[in-house]
Amino acid sequence: MRFNKVLDGIKTYEAGKPIELVVREYGIKPTDVVKLASNENPIGTSPKVTQAIIDNATKAHLYPDDSMFELKDALSKRFDVNSDQIIIGAGSDQVLEFISRALLDEDSTILTSAVTFAMYDIYAKQMGATIIKTPSYEHKVDEFVELYNKHKPKIVYICTPNNPTGDATSKEDVFKIIDAVDSDTLVVVDGAYMEYASSKDGRYLITPKDILEYENVIYLGTFSKAYGLGGMRVGYGIANSALISQLYKLRPPFNISTLSLAAAIAACGDEEFVQESIKLHFEQITRYEEFAKANNIEYIDSYTNFITYIFADTQNSSHIASELLQKGVIVRDLASYGMNAIRITVGTAKQNDRLFEELAKVL
Ligand SMILES: Cc1ncc(COP(=O)(O)O)c(C=O)c1O
Repeated sequence: MRFNKVLDGIKTYEAGKPIELVVREYGIKPTDVVKLASNENPIGTSPKVTQAIIDNATKAHLYPDDSMFELKDALSKRFDVNSDQIIIGAGSDQVLEFISRALLDEDSTILTSAVTFAMYDIYAKQMGATIIKTPSYEHKVDEFVELYNKHKPKIVYICTPNNPTGDATSKEDVFKIIDAVDSDTLVVVDGAYMEYASSKDGRYLITPKDILEYENVIYLGTFSKAYGLGGMRVGYGIANSALISQLYKLRPPFNISTLSLAAAIAACGDEEFVQESIKLHFEQITRYEEFAKANNIEYIDSYTNFITYIFADTQNSSHIASELLQKGVIVRDLASYGMNAIRITVGTAKQNDRLFEELAKVL
């Protein structure tokens, strides 16, 4: 069979290893496995979400409300935008896919920072597009502007805070990039971890409303991180209604399940849970900074729910990640991103104790 030739250039996205796999491969008890690899919320999800899922469990035979009216209503209140400026996806991942399909083809180019969320590249490659990257992993305005002017990409991705590095771009710099781009180029501001960045430093807060006056900018957000709904797969894109209505043409019907929809609506009603998660996170991340300093490990100042440790040449991140895995501690090796580094999701106090104990032994 002859497959589409673009598939030859695509490496399948490798998600963080699930607990079940570590149990199977290393014979470790599930309760002894600590998963700090996928930037999930370590305290779980709001009890209101759990209750909403239980309450909706008897509706499995019914298609969900395809208008997603209630969820859009909750989001439009949260962000002070209109419902027709919102598109919901099965994770913000699905909105990224709509964006790529709507804009890219074999003649087009995307521009991203050197190290950023892998799906931008994968979706671009699926469309046969070319990927241009800045030299730095940080989103440096001069690098973006220079490469934008040279290549006139169809999409510019600004991932702030950035995954997998954890750094963020100030609102001022994000708008410098947006203002340097003309209306033929879409700027995607991916704020998957925005709740953490804005709690750390208000200068990093970008809201969907901030970008609405631009016809060529879309803001992406997710329920997978601070809201604790990684398993439910709900994300959103917010932009002017003309842009959103184009993306709608690519949306499959019922793209969010009944339970996911109910979970996301309930999550919108429990901001206290989000604040509690963020408070716990900031208490715990200081321990990671202290551990790094005590062990001479370089780290990137994090604006997310994870931290990136960069190792000296005498140490090898793949080896460290693999040793940790054999002890039942799952972290993300960044060797495939060209970095001798690991990305660790900040867990609960107990999970972090375990990480420090095992990492100290490996080092
Ligand atoms: C920067 C960034 N954008 C988007 C996503 C996709 O999130 P989801 O599809 O779970 O909403 C992720 C997930 O890790 C991410 O890190």
